Amino acid sequence: MPYKKILLGYDGSQPSKKALEKAVELAKRLEAQLHIVGVIKPFEFAAIDYIPPEEIEKYEEEELKKEEIILKEAIEFAKKKGIEVITKVMEGEPAEELMTYADENGCDLIIVGKRGKGGFKRLLLGSTAGNLVKYANQSVLVVK
Ligand SMILES: Nc1ncnc2c1ncn2[C@@H]1O[C@H](COP(=O)(O)OP(=O)(O)O)[C@@H](O)[C@H]1O
Ligand SMILES: [Mg+2]
Repeated sequence: MPYKKILLGYDGSQPSKKALEKAVELAKRLEAQLHIVGVIKPFEFAAIDYIPPEEIEKYEEEELKKEEIILKEAIEFAKKKGIEVITKVMEGEPAEELMTYADENGCDLIIVGKRGKGGFKRLLLGSTAGNLVKYANQSVLVVK
């Protein structure tokens, strides 16, 4: 049976929740493993200003905490539907990190929503979804 390890990119947005529902359903039917990854943005700062390391650390801790709450919701949702998932928080550019995760963990399908949180309204397809469709080594399912 194809698709034994599915990767869902999850940012807690409404479209990603829809993707979560489909991913859980598909994983159940295919008896596949479901991996859920949330990517947080690294701290960005202007090079001219000095930022105390404690502040950067605080930012990272807060982002990590927020992400863990988001992933916990996804874990709970999957559990209610009867499946155990594997989750991970990564840091960097979302599409790049998701591709790295999929390659390194032998995932054979990537699932994402059509849009995420934020992003440019004029884009019909979000940049993370678009970049995955263009550059990922795996098949990509964009849930609409
Ligand atoms: N930081 C992220 N971590 C994990 N998955 C993400 C992240 N950002 C986006 N995704 C996935 O990509 C989908 C599309 O989001 P994206 O392309 O970023 O759209 P937008 O430009 O509207 O933010 C989301 O529904 C989600 O499945
Ligand atoms: Mg986005």
